[in-house]
Amino acid sequence: MRVIETVNEMVKWPRTNDTVLVPTMGALHEGHRELIRAGKNLTGEEGTLIVSIYVNPTQFNDKKDFKSYPKTFDQDYKICEEEGVDLIFHPSDSEMYSGKETVSVNESKLTKYLCGASRSGHFEGVCTVVTKLFNIIKPATAVFGKKDYQQLAIIKKLVTDLNFSIKIIEAETVREQDGLAISSRNKFLNAEERKQSNTIYKALTAMSSSTERQASELIALSRSIIESEAPLGTIDYLEIVDRKTLEPIQKIDRPSLAAIAIFFSKTRLIDNIEINSL
Ligand code: PAF
Repeated sequence: MRVIETVNEMVKWPRTNDTVLVPTMGALHEGHRELIRAGKNLTGEEGTLIVSIYVNPTQFNDKKDFKSYPKTFDQDYKICEEEGVDLIFHPSDSEMYSGKETVSVNESKLTKYLCGASRSGHFEGVCTVVTKLFNIIKPATAVFGKKDYQQLAIIKKLVTDLNFSIKIIEAETVREQDGLAISSRNKFLNAEERKQSNTIYKALTAMSSSTERQASELIALSRSIIESEAPLGTIDYLEIVDRKTLEPIQKIDRPSLAAIAIFFSKTRLIDNIEINSL
């Protein structure tokens, strides 16, 4: 397995036509393994599977959050090796940004909702770095997880609107046994918060398994589950949206998504579940 740290070397790398990229910020866990395995299924033995590991400063609206983001390169290297990754792209900040940039990439509609409403500038940072990674690595396919559903929807729109010839593959959310979506932030939960955090999935599945079709009723149901079973959690948002436009909807009469963001102390967890019209 090769590690490339410079943009110049990465651009010149003799890639195969079936190069698959799994973009990550490192601190790899079981959820990332699932993305990497989805990538490996696509490349087989012939293609090139590339994992990028880069903690992108421009997508953090909180500097402290950026500073405390776990950096575990040695462990990440081992995981990539175990999963049959061919190449890790691991650039430094100065490789990725000169500090003199005056151009960024922004999506103006899907970013208005859910996380975009409370994390100003976050998706602009994501869109910009993903565009840079696509241009530097030039993959044929890139894999993104459904756990970051809004990010996935925005990247799909970015690829369409900016005419990237890159196929986007969606990977399912990986969960702990009790349903909590695996995230690098879970390690910041204390024991009691961790115990209560499985309520997020309980609340989501209560919505998806209900025959109720009024979004407000479903939201009230899951809010009451969270308030009674996860008193340490503070809801940032709890919404039901159209799966394509991400606009809040009144009635489940189309492919929908229930999405939630919840704080346990300073740790913000997100999760979602797809709901289909009956
Ligand atoms: O999902 C992530 O880990 C990041 O947002 C991404 C896509 C690697 C961009 O920095």
